[in-house]
Amino acid sequence: MFSCLAGCIFIFIPSLSYSADFLLQPPPKSLDKLYSERGKTSKWVEQMRQINKNFQEVFIYLDAEKREKALESAKAFGASYQKASEMVPEWKDLFDLETAKLFNASVAKNNTEKTAQLATKLEKTCTQCHQKHNISVWTRYHWPSTQTIKLFDPVNEKELSYDQYMHQLANSLESIKIYFNQENYTASWKAIDIFSKRFKGLRSACSKCHVTEWTKNSTTVKDFFVGEDIVDALQEIKKSLASGVPDAKLFQKKMGYIAKQSCKTCHLVHQPSAIIQRAWGHIP
Ligand code: HEC
Ligand code: HEC
Ligand code: HEC
Repeated sequence: MFSCLAGCIFIFIPSLSYSADFLLQPPPKSLDKLYSERGKTSKWVEQMRQINKNFQEVFIYLDAEKREKALESAKAFGASYQKASEMVPEWKDLFDLETAKLFNASVAKNNTEKTAQLATKLEKTCTQCHQKHNISVWTRYHWPSTQTIKLFDPVNEKELSYDQYMHQLANSLESIKIYFNQENYTASWKAIDIFSKRFKGLRSACSKCHVTEWTKNSTTVKDFFVGEDIVDALQEIKKSLASGVPDAKLFQKKMGYIAKQSCKTCHLVHQPSAIIQRAWGHIP
């Protein structure tokens, strides 16, 4: 069977190196109902915790030589693993129910070596699915979309989409630099005021997603990316402008600080999910 040679290799490779053709697709539709209540632990995660607990207990009891208990946990694991496999039909094949059965039998027979072998095989099913699907699930269900957020632009006094607001923010930051480089310090000063207004306005965006924010008091997420350190940096630039001999080095240093500590760092945290969601198109 000469043709099988090529064919078999073709089938074999993706299962070995599933990272090589890694594709980030939206999770299967049937997860929607398991994640229907935002802010609440999803039914899927509850089931995962159950599987995990049952699985770990087997080894804890085996170590303690409590065989009866270990077998009970193995049975509970078999049941919770099977239940999970039925919750999302699209993922059924990612579970190995046959090995789960053999695992149970092996625990019952107290076959330590075989049990360890089968456990490793089962763990692979966990890891393989996590590596392939966690990011999709997190992006879909744990990250609110920026696309439903409206922000009030304090400069033009208009409601803007999140994306539009970002572009305005970027424009006003750039203006500070352009005027400074033209040595038009009065205009640069004004641009700082405009940027500051938009920058402070961005703080109202945080609580649209960080909804439990008000319950914290000492530290808040707003200490990051939109904190007083950025406002201070702008003040330093203004002081330098007011001195009559603006310090270009200080200007660059402070502007660099803002671009890194506010814009860039926040983008590194928040933008990947927004980009993936955009690529998926609108998901209601
Ligand atoms: C078919 C896919 C799939 C399989 C198989 C799978 N999981 Fe998961 N598991 C997931 C997904 C997706 C998440 C992320 C859920 C989330 O964060 O909303 C997850 C999350 C978890 C979590 C974290 C729960 C939490 O508190 O956030 C644990 C623990 C876990 N799985 C254990 C296991 C174990 C143990 C196995 C194997 C015995 C297993 N999973 C098999 C898909 C799978
Ligand atoms: C579109 C929704 C969204 C917006 C808007 C948003 N965040 Fe987040 N942010 C998240 C999510 C989701 C996480 C992941 C961790 C979590 O759920 O808290 C996160 C994580 C973070 C983290 C790191 C972990 C943590 O929770 O402390 C910080 C800091 C943070 N955001 C700050 C901010 C600040 C400051 C703003 C406003 C300027 C903001 N975020 C606006 C959704 C958002
Ligand atoms: C709350 C965290 C946060 C802060 C702080 C932040 N951004 Fe953003 N920015 C985002 C997110 C999230 C997106 C993606 C929005 C989307 O795609 O819906 C974005 C998108 C953008 C875009 C559009 C990117 C593109 O490729 O089209 C620009 C431009 C931008 N930001 C500029 C800035 C500038 C300049 C600053 C600093 C003064 C800044 N942002 C501060 C979160 C932030």
